[in-house]
Amino acid sequence: MARTAAAAAGSGEGMPAWGWFAWGGMALISSVIALVSLRYLPGKGPVPEVTALNRYFNPWIKVHAAGAASALLLGATQFLPAIRARWPVLHRIGGRLYVLGCLIGGVSALILAAGTSAGAIAGAGFGALGCAWLATTSVAIYNILKGNVTAHRRWMIRSFALTLAAVTLRVYLPLSSLLALDFLVAYQVVSWLCWVPNILLAEWFLGRRAFAQK
Ligand code: HEM
Repeated sequence: MARTAAAAAGSGEGMPAWGWFAWGGMALISSVIALVSLRYLPGKGPVPEVTALNRYFNPWIKVHAAGAASALLLGATQFLPAIRARWPVLHRIGGRLYVLGCLIGGVSALILAAGTSAGAIAGAGFGALGCAWLATTSVAIYNILKGNVTAHRRWMIRSFALTLAAVTLRVYLPLSSLLALDFLVAYQVVSWLCWVPNILLAEWFLGRRAFAQK
């Protein structure tokens, strides 16, 4: 039976090749970082000194790693149009788990931000990120509960752009050590740099004509 254009678009068949490429790269790197972060749960593996010295390291780093890594693992799949169209139940279950991950990861992030050993600038950067993460995710949930699917999508894009701070942070920090920058200064800069450009990029994406008309 011939399928309608709307159904084809809804299933994701219309996603351009570059879209799949970008999605695949994002899903891969997010999954690797999330899985590596799970090393905190059994308390094994190397811990960066700045994190090990956090005043609230125990038990909050475990809570944070569990919640935030779950959000990072689940987030990318939630944007696949094929899953939304063909298995809406999966999308709903994944969405609830993503939100739970953000909630646990976000609240524990605020506690860790207050206890960072890297100073007030880093504490403020991570604290603001934690607030923005909890706020964008909450607005996305509020909108879906009101039946406003378009606004829900837009706020979830913002929420996930902030979840991806975990990825950008782990790109910028090694880069700063490659450039032989002072670690503490770089860490403070990165506590802001890991998320402000992400949310600006998300705003740009949401403002593109093609997306704004959907
Ligand atoms: C998006 C909001 C997030 C905020 C506000 C946040 C905040 C923080 C803070 C404040 C610390 C402690 C750093 C210190 O002591 O100086 C930390 C560490 C950590 N966070 Fe997050 N985080 C967020 C997202 C994530 C995500 C999505 C992951 C998932 C992988 C993650 C994984 C970790 C890990 C593994 C550490 C330990 C330090 C390291 O290995 O680099 N965080 N986070």
